[in-house]
Amino acid sequence: MRVPLIAGNWKMNNTIEESLYLAKSLAEFSKSFNKDREILICAPFTALYALKTVLKSSKIKLGAQNMHYEESGAYTGEISPLMLKDIGVDYVLIGHSERRQYFNENDELLNKKLKAALKHGIKPILCVGETLEQREANVEKETVKTQIVKSLCGIDADCFKNIVIAYEPVWAIGTGKTASSDQANEIISYIRNVIKELYDEEISENVIIQYGGSVKGSNAAEIMAKPDIDGALVGGASLKAEEFINIINY
Ligand code: 13P
Repeated sequence: MRVPLIAGNWKMNNTIEESLYLAKSLAEFSKSFNKDREILICAPFTALYALKTVLKSSKIKLGAQNMHYEESGAYTGEISPLMLKDIGVDYVLIGHSERRQYFNENDELLNKKLKAALKHGIKPILCVGETLEQREANVEKETVKTQIVKSLCGIDADCFKNIVIAYEPVWAIGTGKTASSDQANEIISYIRNVIKELYDEEISENVIIQYGGSVKGSNAAEIMAKPDIDGALVGGASLKAEEFINIINY
């Protein structure tokens, strides 16, 4: 039985004060929330420590948006898995399309980050998805398959209970242009098949695969009704408590 994971990715938004304000509203809401789903906030590094203090007595999990693969060293400006562990972070986004696009992160690098997160007990959310050009050229399936195969290279089957995959078509991110629920389900079901080929049926049936890209309160229910979609990775609509709560409650 797959428990849906509703995650907010705040991206480069919110000061510490704004983060705490938003998190307190969500923590308050979560006290009386008893549907079987997991709630997660992926916040900027600067707010993580303060957020942990607010969220630790709530059901809401805490995530980072990126991470270096080394434990320590001369990597100016980077944050290591040990530092995230120290805060008590539960999840980390790996390979968000904005990291791939603006910071040239490639599948080989993401493979190292995935392994580092798993080694340190932080659950990675591996983000995959095609660009508009790739979709127009009908290579969306090949694109996500390559991203998955390369990123998961050398990762054992027994790690899989701690890995989440997020399918986020780049053309649907921040554009207001949601993939239709059928389009999203088609690729997510395809991803499940890729996992089955790489590992086995049990793993492919149990892995949590989210959809991300312009998810809002008004479309969450339709997306979540699809059989292969196990949650949402939400950008803009996670920045307002009321709207994010509508999505969590879909
Ligand atoms: P939007 O929900 O703003 O489209 O962003 C999606 C996303 O990138 C989540 O990681």
